[in-house]
Amino acid sequence: MPTTSERRGTVLDVPLQLQRGAGSQALQVYAGLRSAIIEGRLGAGLRLPSTRSLADQLRVKRNAVVIAYEHLQSDGLVEARTGSGTTVAALPALARRAKPAQTVVPAPIPRLPSKPFALGKTYADPQLLQRLAAATRRCIMKANDAEFGYGDPRGSEHLRVQIAHYLGASRGFACDPGCVVIVNGIQQGLRLCAEALLAPGDAVWMEDPGYPAARRTLTRAGLKIVPVPVDAEGLDVKAGQKKMAGAKAAYVTPSHQFPTGVTMTMARRIALVDWARASKAWLLEDDYDSEFRYGGPPLTALAGIGGGDRVIYLGTFSKLLGAGLRLAYMVLPRAALESVVVVREGHDRFPPSFAASAVADLMADGFLADHTRRMRRRYRAGRDAVAAALRSAANGALDIVSPQQGLHLLALLPNGLPDDAAAQIRTQAGVETWLLSETRIKPAGPDGFILGFGGHDLAELTAAATALGQAARHYLKGLSQRP
Ligand SMILES: Cc1ncc(COP(=O)(O)O)c(C=O)c1O
Repeated sequence: MPTTSERRGTVLDVPLQLQRGAGSQALQVYAGLRSAIIEGRLGAGLRLPSTRSLADQLRVKRNAVVIAYEHLQSDGLVEARTGSGTTVAALPALARRAKPAQTVVPAPIPRLPSKPFALGKTYADPQLLQRLAAATRRCIMKANDAEFGYGDPRGSEHLRVQIAHYLGASRGFACDPGCVVIVNGIQQGLRLCAEALLAPGDAVWMEDPGYPAARRTLTRAGLKIVPVPVDAEGLDVKAGQKKMAGAKAAYVTPSHQFPTGVTMTMARRIALVDWARASKAWLLEDDYDSEFRYGGPPLTALAGIGGGDRVIYLGTFSKLLGAGLRLAYMVLPRAALESVVVVREGHDRFPPSFAASAVADLMADGFLADHTRRMRRRYRAGRDAVAAALRSAANGALDIVSPQQGLHLLALLPNGLPDDAAAQIRTQAGVETWLLSETRIKPAGPDGFILGFGGHDLAELTAAATALGQAARHYLKGLSQRP
């Protein structure tokens, strides 16, 4: 505990241990001081050192200390008075605890790995970066007063109009820009829909295997997940009806099922839409990578085949431009629009507008269409290189499902191997890949590897595919030699 004289004076050496690596320097200093104050190691009335001297002591930038002091002040943990520096505030007894109930510094969020075959990585195309930077700068410099205020909860009208044009031309359905809502990623769109249109405990069909992040989001919203198997035609609608005909929604990836790559047949699409209309269920159509179609015409989105009043269409710029932009969109039926917009206002009010306007400019002047064509060529080369290297190195040990769309492919192991076979092969090959079993809700069928090829260097992809193919081949050979 601090002594009385310390309380009145300035503490010279603040008893802090920074958790280096846990967020920015400002966050580290803030978290360290915050727990020292809450735990009583820095008592009320104690004057903290000047920002310069604390920065010297902790060997951090002075600005980090300035920001940390500002945060502490807005938390009410310190007081700043002109002329008397920054002092620790008197806290109500309850606020002080011998030990905080939970660690104050949030665990560092793991950076997504970026070596092959990490999913979600796209190519940082120099042309794109230049054009996007210039367009963003232009949008900021020419912004009027209104654009510095609060905006429409649906997001930039300019971008919504461009998205509506794009969907009409490329995804086969006409939509009113007024029904488009810009979101910070498909994930956020799902969360808003769950909150606005469904109630905790409602059942939702989920593709099995399927996209784990969507499953987590819907589970966290309190929904009951009903796994529905996927076969060569996509989600098995009849199986869904047998399991839970009265489900209130279905989450589907019909144009390129994640992770199997299956394109849902038209017959299944129609059956799904019929079910949704008859049971007044919502269809959450995640069309996450439809820009990258390598062969065959794209099938019309569910929203375009008469399911318009039950389908919530979700698209994203994460694959085309990069996940870091956090730019995605939903197209909502009129019956859903108002409640979703109300919920959105209660979350983040409206989405950031400058990057959205810049992307809209790039769509309007045709750059994005060119970019899509160039990236499609690049990613197709990645897909082909991975498939060829895998085939040659695995020599039959893997069944390679090379997709007609998207940025990942599937390499399947034979059925009947030990449960940990895929994980062992992954470790042996030293590659970054999700296992098919990690995307299943119920264990079933053969395991395999979900291999992202977007954004990775071609030579690295080839080397990693060779390592994985060889590891699979050696594993199977080892098994066959066991007595
Ligand atoms: C099936 C699926 N949906 C959605 C996304 C990502 O969407 P967003 O970045 O807009 O949240 C991904 C990303 O890989 C995905 O695989």
